[in-house]
Amino acid sequence: MKIREEQRRRAEALLERLTLEEKICMIHGAGLFETGSVERLGIPPLKMSDGPMGVRREFRKDSWEPAGNTDDYVTYLPSNSAIASTWNRELAYESGKVLGAEARGRGKDVILAPGINIKRSPLCGRNFEYMSEDPYLTAEQCVPLIQGIQENDVAACVKHFALNNQERNRLWVDTKVEERALREIYLPAFRAAAERGEALSMMGAYNLVRGSRCCENEYLLDEILRKEWGWDGVVISDWGGILRTKESACVSMDVEMSIYSNFDEYFFAKPLLEAVQNGEIAEETVDEKVYRILCMMMALHMLDGAEQMNGNENGSGTAEERTDWHTMRDDRSSGRKRKCGCYNAPAHRQAALETARESVVLLKNEDSRLPLQKEKLKKLLVVGCNADCLHSLGGGSAEIKALYEISPLMGLKCLLGGNTEVTYVPGYYIPDNREQAENWQEESLKEREGKTAAEELVTPETAAKRKALLEEAVSLAAEYEDVIFIGGLNHQFDLEDQDRRDMKLPYGQDELIEALLDANPDTILVMNAGSPVEMHRFADRAKAIVWHWYAGMEGGTALAEVLLGEVNPSGKLPESFPVTHMDCSAHSIGTFGDRELADYREGIFVGYRHYETADVPVSFCFGHGLSYTSFSYGDCRAVCCGDGENAAVTISCRVKNVGERAGKETVQLYVHKPQSCVERPAKELKGYEKVNLAPGEEAEVLFCLTKEDLMYYDEQERRMCLEEGRYDVFVGASVKDIRGQVSVVF
Ligand code: BGC
Repeated sequence: MKIREEQRRRAEALLERLTLEEKICMIHGAGLFETGSVERLGIPPLKMSDGPMGVRREFRKDSWEPAGNTDDYVTYLPSNSAIASTWNRELAYESGKVLGAEARGRGKDVILAPGINIKRSPLCGRNFEYMSEDPYLTAEQCVPLIQGIQENDVAACVKHFALNNQERNRLWVDTKVEERALREIYLPAFRAAAERGEALSMMGAYNLVRGSRCCENEYLLDEILRKEWGWDGVVISDWGGILRTKESACVSMDVEMSIYSNFDEYFFAKPLLEAVQNGEIAEETVDEKVYRILCMMMALHMLDGAEQMNGNENGSGTAEERTDWHTMRDDRSSGRKRKCGCYNAPAHRQAALETARESVVLLKNEDSRLPLQKEKLKKLLVVGCNADCLHSLGGGSAEIKALYEISPLMGLKCLLGGNTEVTYVPGYYIPDNREQAENWQEESLKEREGKTAAEELVTPETAAKRKALLEEAVSLAAEYEDVIFIGGLNHQFDLEDQDRRDMKLPYGQDELIEALLDANPDTILVMNAGSPVEMHRFADRAKAIVWHWYAGMEGGTALAEVLLGEVNPSGKLPESFPVTHMDCSAHSIGTFGDRELADYREGIFVGYRHYETADVPVSFCFGHGLSYTSFSYGDCRAVCCGDGENAAVTISCRVKNVGERAGKETVQLYVHKPQSCVERPAKELKGYEKVNLAPGEEAEVLFCLTKEDLMYYDEQERRMCLEEGRYDVFVGASVKDIRGQVSVVF
């Protein structure tokens, strides 16, 4: 969102009228989710809310106790992993529009989303809030999402800047990363969010990078964000991410938010005021922060009319001067009013459903086991707790008080209607011992050890319950022709503030799945989770496996539509599914999950860049996803266009739907540089297009490769460089399923 010159001038003029105390009050929390206001001049507080999957419920101003309102139920949107899994920029934009409208509708100014950290390891507890292991896919999906949010006069707060890739000991862990990996893997999506998405704010992460806390990090905040990228939005600390006054105040950190309610004691409150008063910190340092906040408020139409207020020097103005800012909505120059947004609109639920539909990934479908034929389905057995589980109110700060949530079981029953007899049994037992305490956000920062998901405690009692449930499910499975297992993880595992120990399925699901497949080899498997799980014990034997993310309030509907063939699946994995976490480079080469140090020794070889280059087999590869129809790919062609600095190549490829049903295919483009002066990954994603084709229909898919797309970070030159010579370009249906290849010379 661009801030106009005239808005900047108005911000400058307003800044001049503020006292030091007023300025200080604007740069720190005066409530858990809002800053202070300057009533005298009509400057409202900045009201904020989590988070990526919808607008979080209301809390009391000064405690983590939920306000207990009945008016803060909202649209529960598909997680960022699900949005990335659609590979559909339009749907990301639509999701952003809903999130922005709902945030504004709930009276918020800043929505603490999207989360765009790279999925370095499948074990990170917050992966479900993030998009992908790939910087290009993350950038392409997050830009329209941010634009959609901000169209509603609400700021996106892109998080967590930067390298916040593990939860364990999140406030203290230090990240050691080489410059090339930083530039090629971890920063591009943030850069795209700042430059192309024009995000108005960004959240400084908890962790340290190269020994310096992200919220004090001169290199990240001053050098890269401000100087290199020229970004002048507002940097907001993660809640409790600031631990020292001077160190954070003297870098481009603008707003301190925290988890505690002693607002006047915040580092950017009294301590900063005193530091300015006694000359330790220049007042201009505070001015710069306030100026950026005022500019953002201008862009959001929050200050329309503020200048008309005279105010007085020592108080909050006379009665006439004190105007309620909620009534001041006219933008004087454009005449445009601040949008009011709205929440729980039927159109929002429809948008959530459409994204959920395209997020479902058909991992395997031997003998066309799916879709099930609704008309022929007299009896259906559904096994597994995730069929009957609601996930919205879990996960940490991404929790959502959903207006409703359709579970997979409900989705199936709603769609099947009364002619099919649906039997549900849980099949496994979930001990209720991992609830998050109400004030976990506060607790999570006190602890210096950091949690990893606890090892599953299987007491004799638990074991007995499991056995009984397994036996019940297995004996029924033998009787039924059609059985769907719906298991996976839940927010006891996909959870803020802790990482998983491994990728194993919890609650004895492996044994259950194996027994179900023994009893009924046609059993359909649905994995519902926010991060990959080990599937090697049964993946070869199962005929059909479906991946279902936390896909919002209509997730169960979307899943049912896919299983019953009303929707043709078109999701593709936005991350590799390794066989075990030990195959992942963060574990096999670098370090992950240690308390003190995360050493990113694997460099740029993250996700498929590692599996493809080092030839490590995976369970399901990046970009993989099947359809009920099939697509044939024609030859790839490359045509050069432009020259000199603007040299580019257009790659084209014809794709045809050669099956019987309409379907969508995401055509992916990868590049590789043979004979390079630096190590290069075997493939790197540089383009994708999703096409919708009727049976027999054909389309030409076009990609444009520019010099910039092919650059690598040169450690000696300390900049992105283009290496001249030949590049191999691959076009395909996944990183492994390459259908065409062409070479180009730059
Ligand atoms: C999380 C942020 C969140 C903030 C406010 C922190 O614990 O890391 O992502 O936006 O709390 O709830």
